Amino acid sequence: MSERAEALAGVIRDRRVTRSYGPGAIAREELEALVEAAYRAPHGGGRRPVKFVVLAGGPQLRRVIDASPGILGRPAALIVLCLDWSRAPHLEIDDPRTTHSLQIDAGAAMENILLTAEALGIGAGPVTSFNRPTVARLLELPHDWTPLIIVTLGRLKTPRVARPQDDDIGVRIGAVTTWHEGEAMTEKAPVDPEHVRDAFLELMLYLAAAARGNVDEQVGYGPLRLLEGAQRAVRSLERFGLADADLQAFQERVTAEGMKVTKDPDHARVVADDLLALLSRRLGVGA
Ligand SMILES: Cc1cc2nc3c(=O)[nH]c(=O)nc-3n(C[C@H](O)[C@H](O)[C@H](O)COP(=O)(O)O)c2cc1C
Repeated sequence: MSERAEALAGVIRDRRVTRSYGPGAIAREELEALVEAAYRAPHGGGRRPVKFVVLAGGPQLRRVIDASPGILGRPAALIVLCLDWSRAPHLEIDDPRTTHSLQIDAGAAMENILLTAEALGIGAGPVTSFNRPTVARLLELPHDWTPLIIVTLGRLKTPRVARPQDDDIGVRIGAVTTWHEGEAMTEKAPVDPEHVRDAFLELMLYLAAAARGNVDEQVGYGPLRLLEGAQRAVRSLERFGLADADLQAFQERVTAEGMKVTKDPDHARVVADDLLALLSRRLGVGA
């Protein structure tokens, strides 16, 4: 493992929920580093639905702690992760498909805060046992924000002792992990009828899954999914050694510009038109 990977593995290994804090505030720069870490978390569809409310003292801090049975001890600061529903205007607020993705976004932001806190030597813990409407009122949140997770923060009572690699970690991980191993996707396959049939069936699987998903997806994803279908066809050609530089360039373009295609219909038109021009040329149409 590289030094960087070792350092990260150590932070992940040592992180534990802190529920009892020593005296001392969390400095503004530390809180900013934690919020920055949360802001950098991945978020589905580029929506950025998570908003952060930082409570570093004052009556609101005390009151939010009191409205939260899940907060044990007296943390010096809180970061309240809120979902801003106005970031997902295309779907119903109560739609489980929307909540699913947005909650994962908040979870990713939460974990970035917890790991950064660990790296900074700050005690931290996630809390979801709190009264949401009361916390929303106490913080005077906009009506379309829901407080979803509170991260408690405070000084450690005693410095964290690095945890050794547990002897039975492999066994414990084995109990919760299923492995499927085999050849890599890009492994070359000879062009024989069985492989060609599998390539078509897999493309059909993608197309059916994309069609099903698209019924529920945001407007704008349809053209992207179709371009991705074309990409997958190229990937099969690559496996058979039949793709060339033109097709690979198209491949990379869809990968690089996919999100823009979903957001900007003009861009979707340009990328699709370019693909059509490429294919017409290759098929000798108008050549
Ligand atoms: C979604 C979520 C909600 C949680 N809510 C609470 C909570 O309300 N109060 C609390 O003390 N701990 C809460 N926890 C912390 C878990 O109890 C803790 O992560 C778990 O026991 C594993 O311990 P560790 O994080 O120290 O490894 C929560 C954790 C998660 C991921």
